[in-house]
Order: sequence, then C-alpha cells, then structure tokens
Amino acid sequence: MAKLDVHQFPCLSDNYGVLIHDAEQDVTASIDAPDAKAVEAALAARGWKLTHILTTHHHADHTAGNLPLKARTGCTIIGPRAEAAKIPGIDRPVADGYRFPFGSHDVAVLDTPGHTAGHISYWLPADGIAFVGDTLFAMGCGRVIEGNAQMMWQSLQKLMALPQETLVYCGHEYTQANARFALTVEPENAALRQRAKQTDELRAVGKPTLPTNIGIELKTNPFLRASVAAIQKRLGLEGKPEWQIFGEIRERKNRS
Ligand SMILES: [Fe+2]
Repeated sequence: MAKLDVHQFPCLSDNYGVLIHDAEQDVTASIDAPDAKAVEAALAARGWKLTHILTTHHHADHTAGNLPLKARTGCTIIGPRAEAAKIPGIDRPVADGYRFPFGSHDVAVLDTPGHTAGHISYWLPADGIAFVGDTLFAMGCGRVIEGNAQMMWQSLQKLMALPQETLVYCGHEYTQANARFALTVEPENAALRQRAKQTDELRAVGKPTLPTNIGIELKTNPFLRASVAAIQKRLGLEGKPEWQIFGEIRERKNRS
C-alpha cells in the first residue's frame, strides 16, 4: 500500500479542509469542501489534482465548494445516501458498511447520524485514520441538530470502538471552547487539565489542535465519558442510561 499524504488547512472562520493524496496512483480527495478557493489553493501549493470529494454531511460549510470544484476538475463526489438530495453534485451515495478504494487505500463508511440525520464518517482502517466531520471534535462533539441524544450517542460509540491510535480529523477548530466546558464537567480529570493547557499554548501561537486520536478523546472528552461515576454524580444522574448522561452533557454545553 502506498503512503497516504494528508494535508490539513484552516478555512472559513473555524473550519478545517483536508486533502488526502496517493502519489502512486495520483489521486487526491478533499474531505468535504468548505470553500472552493481554499481547496484550490491547497491543491496548487502541492501540485495535486483533485479527483474526489468525500462529503460527510450536507451543511453549507462542508459542501459550498462541491459544484465549483466539480465544474473545474470533473472530480467524483461521494457522500451520504441518506441526505443525497441535499449534497450538491453527488455522484456516489454511500452508507454504513460500504467500502471503496481510494488509490490503493481502503475506505470504510460509518453512519454517524445525530448532527444531521444522514451524517457519515470515513475510516481508512489500514492507514489508521478517520474523518468524522461534525460528529466528534477534540474534547467535544457536534450539536445534535437533526437527530436525538440516543442517536448521537450511538454514533459516538461507533467512533469510540475504533482502535485507540486512530488519527481523527474533525470539521472545526473548536478545541479551546470545548476544553473550557469540559473542565466544568470533570474538573478533577488531570489528563483533561493538562490537555486544556496544551491547547491554550498551541492556539496562542496559531497552531492547530487537530488531528486528535481516539485514545486521547476517551481520556479527556466528557461527551465520551458518560460511564464515569464522578461525572454521573456531578450531573445528579447516577445509574441512568449512558445516552441520557450524554444528552445532559450536550444540553449543558448548548447553554454554556
Ligand atoms: Fe455541520
């Protein structure tokens, strides 16, 4: 299997664009397409030609670049079957269990609904990389806009079950605000306190805090820690189903 080059770049106000490139097969995919100009600049800087867009969900800050990029490159757009009608220019609708090749790399599709009803994530098992859009963030998770807490908790559990070393690329740089909120849920978590400090240091010099990995999130992301007794106690929800505890944490973040 050829090496996969991954290039992450900030765009719009707080989105990340990501390009993946297989040099041997000369294929390049944009993970979502927040902004056509930013994606084109990133491609030009590396001399890569766009062949695919892998869309995670229909929101405009993930799809606005689809049509202009397709018009200029003829790229193939892969996206969630459950919201295909809302994905501009979609060629190949996919859903949970689909696997497709990207160059010499194997891509698996995971349904991760909740933020939107048809949100999907892309997992490259052999490369140990996942692209999770607006489902999971560093120390946070996406707002539950079209689904419900139970649905989002199920989606997060799917990501939690990936190998801990899996590198996770997310749609937004929300890490600093997420860390501040996370500390209100679990102030006694030493790994979280240390990560919050590291996050402030990175942001102070304009550096990205992503990608993250599953292992770090399991230790520091309150949205993945509904099973922790101290958190349940702080919320006054001891022994309740984990999805309810997750839901309460999400509600508190919405109000914060
Ligand atoms: Fe979104």
